[in-house]
Amino acid sequence: MIKKELLYEGKAKKIFRTDDPNLLWVEYKDDATAFNGLKKGAVSGKGELNNKISAHFFRLLAQNGIESHLVAEKSHREMVVKSLQIIRVEVVLRNIAAGSLSKRLGLPEGTVLPSTVVEYYYKNDELHDPLVNDDHIRILDLATPEQMSEIKEIALKVNEVLRAHLAERELDLIDFKLEFGLHNGQIILGDEISPDTCRFWDKNTRKKLDKDRFRQDLGDVEQAYREVYRRLTGKQHTG
Ligand code: TMP
Ligand code: ASP
Repeated sequence: MIKKELLYEGKAKKIFRTDDPNLLWVEYKDDATAFNGLKKGAVSGKGELNNKISAHFFRLLAQNGIESHLVAEKSHREMVVKSLQIIRVEVVLRNIAAGSLSKRLGLPEGTVLPSTVVEYYYKNDELHDPLVNDDHIRILDLATPEQMSEIKEIALKVNEVLRAHLAERELDLIDFKLEFGLHNGQIILGDEISPDTCRFWDKNTRKKLDKDRFRQDLGDVEQAYREVYRRLTGKQHTG
């Protein structure tokens, strides 16, 4: 497998072509942005931690019958993934109120939701990723109703697997975002699952161990990501 030219540089990752047209090479960056790029910064060690944490979760999901795009880890901050035809819908699952749900519905942060809330956002930077429903997804032709029902089913299963895994490690899964794509017509989990794309709180102290520390200037961002890694793997991150 050979890493070829840069295809795309996003806010937190760079994507390179490989010598295999079915595979892409992903490099996780230390850069951090929030509020649609309005706030910019860097968190040293974040690229390595997010690569390793995402790979950990993708392997856990594979053991539970949920396929992701992960093919192999290539270095501390790089992985090779299947090339997906991206579905331009971000899928957010929420177990406890926080972030934009608290703001939109006036639910105090930390309110335990009686059942999991599934939301969809249209992946469109110019429009700032607006909240959309199944009808919007249909008229924009982002995915078929059959694909969306499969995506919802997979997303709810991901929630159950991650939640149980994290609970054993004294972490609450508040909410998280998933992205999906098509590979040979099959729906596959893509992107990343990391403290950039999830909210994790310590079960006992309620300390935030995720990107909210960066968004809200709470300090100790890198330490929080390291703590998530340590709880997941039982190892200190030494990178
Ligand atoms: P929200 O409360 O800001 O809508 O975020 C919900 C979850 O989605 C949270 O775990 C963070 C994640 N998320 C992303 O991964 N990317 C984004 O651009 C946004 C806005 C949220
Ligand atoms: N990643 C998004 C951005 O840069 C938003 C966020 O995670 O808060 O703007």
